[in-house]
Amino acid sequence: MITESIARIDAERLCREAKGILAGNVLTGGYTVPSKKLYPYQWNWDSGFVAMGFAHFDVDQAISELENLFLGQWDNGMLPHIVFHSKKREGYFPGPDYWQSSKFDHSSKHVETSGITQPAVHGFILERMLTMAPDHDKLIAFVKRIFPKIVKLHRYYYDHRDPNKEGLAYIYHPWASGRDNSPLWDDILKSMKIMPGDLPPYERFDNKIADPSERPSQSDYDCYVYLMELGKRHAYMGTGISDESPFLVQDTLFNAVLIKSNESLIRLGQRFGFDVEEIRDWNKQSIRAFDQKLWVEDMETYAPFDMRNHRHIRLKEIGAYVSLFAGIPDEKRARKLRNNLYDVADRPEGFRVVPSFDIDHWIFDPKKYWKGPIWPQMNWLIYHGLRDYGFMGTAKRVKWDFLDLVDKLGFHEYFDPRTSVADQLEHGYGGDHFSWTAAVVLDLIAD
Ligand code: SER
Repeated sequence: MITESIARIDAERLCREAKGILAGNVLTGGYTVPSKKLYPYQWNWDSGFVAMGFAHFDVDQAISELENLFLGQWDNGMLPHIVFHSKKREGYFPGPDYWQSSKFDHSSKHVETSGITQPAVHGFILERMLTMAPDHDKLIAFVKRIFPKIVKLHRYYYDHRDPNKEGLAYIYHPWASGRDNSPLWDDILKSMKIMPGDLPPYERFDNKIADPSERPSQSDYDCYVYLMELGKRHAYMGTGISDESPFLVQDTLFNAVLIKSNESLIRLGQRFGFDVEEIRDWNKQSIRAFDQKLWVEDMETYAPFDMRNHRHIRLKEIGAYVSLFAGIPDEKRARKLRNNLYDVADRPEGFRVVPSFDIDHWIFDPKKYWKGPIWPQMNWLIYHGLRDYGFMGTAKRVKWDFLDLVDKLGFHEYFDPRTSVADQLEHGYGGDHFSWTAAVVLDLIAD
């Protein structure tokens, strides 16, 4: 039986610190960086959560966050994973000089950006912001203004990232999944034959700013650069990528987030008088395809589908739980997913939930980025999913385990899931003063 952790946190102090971190990470121009040294530009799904955090105490800044992000939207609808409002070389690789987005006609006309995307959280974030300030005139005007831009983004996925018209969008880079070095991608990356001369010379900064043992490996980075080069050769779009990329995946988290945002757009569209028939059609097909194609019965979970090799990626990991947030599984499947979580939470050796990867797998690494640590935004997504299905005990555990970690170890990027180890540590892992950690803390405490 799962035992509910009663965390004795100082909520007032945490909220005060969270607001200070968010405000401190806003740069001139009115956008927020995830973490000043490690990620010194504006990141896509980070900014979604950041806007939600600001909506609790500064709606103007929440609006400015998304306005700035959508300045980076490309003419074809794609919303890149990084927007470079400043062209200054900030000690980050790959920066604007690497991506060269402005060379391409269909890129943003306002700012330089990266050429890949990230999970489309904006629809449900917008709806959540509106729940917090339902009668805020400026916010309502903003919702009406940004609604067509988010629809255009979703249309990009259905038009350009779903070659077989299945209702499931593909990604061609691990970074687009949001779970960069998850073991999910290891086999595909290992199968990539990188020859001398395939990669331009490049210098990483991430492993100098953060502890390298908590960051992706050098061979992972070589594969990331290889796939970026491939994207660039194809102007970051078109059938060329799906024909050529060794990495072509219909991901669980990515598609669950898209489905959830579709659902929010349908409700928002109805309220503000937009035609939502197209979104309804997308979503009906996507929900069915997700549930039928990505469920793996003998594993009792959903798994991403490797389109290049025509197989599921048969590993248990955190993306599957986001299906709950999107309301995809029926009661029976939802219970199976919840039971997997029970299993982790009740181990005698002691784990906080939710580790990002299967704790029983030999690859599990509780310190290394997406190979095991607990991530703030994931606990937020999973908490809401469990709650929506009525699994209140587990939901509370997911919420309080996270808040307890931040209370003990600070506003870090990710955390060690082993209770006995984390309790001996002085801080979390990766970047510090982390924006989405602050945003999620504010939202979960207010919930
Ligand atoms: N998360 C990746 C990084 O570490 C890509 O956005 O830079």
